[in-house]
Amino acid sequence: MTPGIEIRVDPYPDRPSFADLSVAAWGTPWDETYDLDNVLRRSLVHLGAYRDGRLVGYVNVAWDGAMHAFLLDPMVHPDVRRDGLGSVLVKRATELARERGATYLHVDYEPHLATFYERCGFRPTAAGFIRL
Ligand SMILES: CC(C)(COP(=O)(O)OP(=O)(O)OC[C@H]1O[C@@H](n2cnc3c(N)ncnc32)[C@H](O)[C@@H]1OP(=O)(O)O)[C@@H](O)C(=O)NCCC(=O)NCCS
Repeated sequence: MTPGIEIRVDPYPDRPSFADLSVAAWGTPWDETYDLDNVLRRSLVHLGAYRDGRLVGYVNVAWDGAMHAFLLDPMVHPDVRRDGLGSVLVKRATELARERGATYLHVDYEPHLATFYERCGFRPTAAGFIRL
């Protein structure tokens, strides 16, 4: 992992930092309607990675309050990618989700990220979704 990166548990990043990282990571414009407070109210755990005080990585785990948790929005700034940070964030979030009471951690992803998630310990399963 790139030296000097600090991982913080439940940092509740401020909206501008989160927006900057989202735009850099996803390459899409920031959605002004995105309500980060509302998202994090439903979080079992979220992690932020900081370099020189700047948010460069993030992952969130949402929870049903019982057995099932869902890994959402893992993102790493392009400047520090392919150096293990994404894997560290996902693995640490997995450990904390277990410690905080979830039994199953779900994720969905595009096919090119299959190796990334397999290396993080996920095994493939059939899943589905509906755009509401
Ligand atoms: C996916 C993401 C979080 C990975 O972060 P990262 O810090 O670069 O990941 P790691 O360095 O831990 O990658 C570990 C391994 O996963 C695989 N991997 C990671 N990113 C990959 C990619 N874009 N395509 C294919 N394989 C990838 C590689 O095998 C990599 O090992 P290698 O670098 O030795 O080849 C990052 O690319 C990102 O923010 N992408 C944009 C947002 C996104 O798509 N998030 C996932 C939504 S499901």
